[in-house]
Amino acid sequence: MIRIKGLSFRYSGGVKNALSDISLDIGKGDFLGIIGASGAGKSTLTYAINGVVPHYIRGDFYGEVVVSGLDTVKAGPETLARHVGSVLQDIDGQMVSSVVEDELLFGLENFGVPHGEIESRIEESLAAAGISELRSRDIGTLSGGQKQKVAIAAIMALRPEIIVLDEPTGELDPQSSRRVFETLRSLNEENGVTIVVVEQKIMLLCEFAGRLAVMSGGKLISEGRVKDVLMDADKLEGAGVNIPRVATLARLLRKKGLYSGDTPADLRQAEAMMREVLSDAAV
Ligand SMILES: Nc1ncnc2c1ncn2[C@@H]1O[C@H](COP(=O)(O)OP(=O)(O)OP(=O)(O)O)[C@@H](O)[C@H]1O
Ligand SMILES: [Mg+2]
Repeated sequence: MIRIKGLSFRYSGGVKNALSDISLDIGKGDFLGIIGASGAGKSTLTYAINGVVPHYIRGDFYGEVVVSGLDTVKAGPETLARHVGSVLQDIDGQMVSSVVEDELLFGLENFGVPHGEIESRIEESLAAAGISELRSRDIGTLSGGQKQKVAIAAIMALRPEIIVLDEPTGELDPQSSRRVFETLRSLNEENGVTIVVVEQKIMLLCEFAGRLAVMSGGKLISEGRVKDVLMDADKLEGAGVNIPRVATLARLLRKKGLYSGDTPADLRQAEAMMREVLSDAAV
């Protein structure tokens, strides 16, 4: 679905590569989380997937990115947009309309969605994003979190095969953040949408993502199933990633020979780990 091969990118005027020799395959129906410290290249990697790089942002581009069979350098950004929906880190820069429903309508009309289908798509996506009541609101009066939900609803309405989101919960409280991930999960599981999401809330990400990619200094330093990636805590800490405290705990327990299982990726697994350690201790 997405094949990245030997990708390097340096912004024009940049002193070093923002991306260095990245190779990564993302399969159809994958739910991939991207983590890494600030400046690691996470946003730039999402730009390389949705074609913002090299079409809107110039620089030296080496390597190959193929998305849904399209070479992103050869395919125009409009063609790519039909396959990849994006929620950018800079939400304000993404909005093109002044009223919420127009923001959704704009994309639908642009994509030539038949008029008879438009109303139901708008209703469904607003409901899925939990913002039906914001439909007639002026975007300028919304909070950052509400705007994030509008951006997500506008992308969902277009039903792309791939959705790339760059810190979509940055302005959201824990409950709304979880809701966003639940929406992504249902798009992923029920509609087979491939999800690529940059997210700082690692514990939340690990609960929903199937795979993790870790970036550091423009390089992809680790990639794989969530629990395998979490296992290498030293590498993650070296990359400046704040690993979940429960992963640190698992590592300490393993070092002390008290635990030998997988690193918990969510609360339920963390509880199972603690039960195992405590029941062993009781013997
Ligand atoms: N427009 C630009 N021009 C020049 N250099 C840039 C530009 N945008 C980003 N960079 C540089 O490219 C590198 C990667 O930036 P990028 O925004 O991809 O990181 P990030 O992992 O998304 O960081 P953050 O967590 O802060 O969003 C950084 O060194 C950054 O300074
Ligand atoms: Mg970024």
